[in-house]
Amino acid sequence: MTISPPQRNLFSIMMHWLTLLLLIVLTASVFLREDLEGKSLKLLLLNAHRSLGLLVLIIAVPRFLLWIKYEISHQKISPSHFWLRFSATAAHLAIFALLFVLPVLGWMASNARGQTVSLFGLVNFPTLTVLDTDYADDLVHYHELGAWLIMGLVVMHVGAALWHHFVRRDDVMSNMLLRKEKM
Ligand code: HEM
Ligand code: HEM
Repeated sequence: MTISPPQRNLFSIMMHWLTLLLLIVLTASVFLREDLEGKSLKLLLLNAHRSLGLLVLIIAVPRFLLWIKYEISHQKISPSHFWLRFSATAAHLAIFALLFVLPVLGWMASNARGQTVSLFGLVNFPTLTVLDTDYADDLVHYHELGAWLIMGLVVMHVGAALWHHFVRRDDVMSNMLLRKEKM
């Protein structure tokens, strides 16, 4: 017997899809810069990348808390196989860890390059590290590594969502979509 997972809260759903959109735009903005001429346009794109990345970090905080709440309620009523739940929880935890660590590495790398980070020029973020270009290069390296890692996890994540929807035919995917009764 399959029992439907508990309904997701509307905010979690909206923030999940907003994060996807932000990740697409911020990744495009940092790669687009490589093909462009003009220092000011490159800086504009890098600043857009930084601000959107900081937004991902800010959004990740309430998302993570709501996810913990959801996981606790899910654990109680779901009869799903242990390993299925365990791997989903581990994968989501790894994605959340990167959603926190990646922006912080980018923020630190910017500071180590001597640049202050701000959210769309409106709010300045505190400086986390002193100017040190070698350290900045290392931080950018780990930032890029983290970005590849999260992309890999997202590919697996989307594969798992499709498997739930088309093979297992359960409510996991539809539960993450905006349905009428949630409005
Ligand atoms: C989840 C959020 C983020 C993702 C997925 C991400 C992804 C990336 C990727 C893929 C690159 C490498 C592009 C290349 O190979 O040239 C990059 C570079 C960079 N990112 Fe991020 N980033 C995020 C957030 C941030 C934040 C919040 C900041 C700063 C506040 C930041 C600052 C930088 C900097 C300084 C670079 C190096 C750009 C360069 O000079 O080439 N990133 N990021
Ligand atoms: C087309 C792309 C995507 C699809 C189809 C998708 C689908 C889903 C589904 C069906 C769930 C519910 C899983 C469950 O209840 O066990 C989920 C949760 C989750 N997804 Fe995605 N996702 C996508 C993109 C992303 C991206 C880009 C990220 C972040 C990098 C992400 C991070 C998460 C996280 C952390 C959760 C668990 C926390 C929560 O419930 O909000 N997803 N996703």
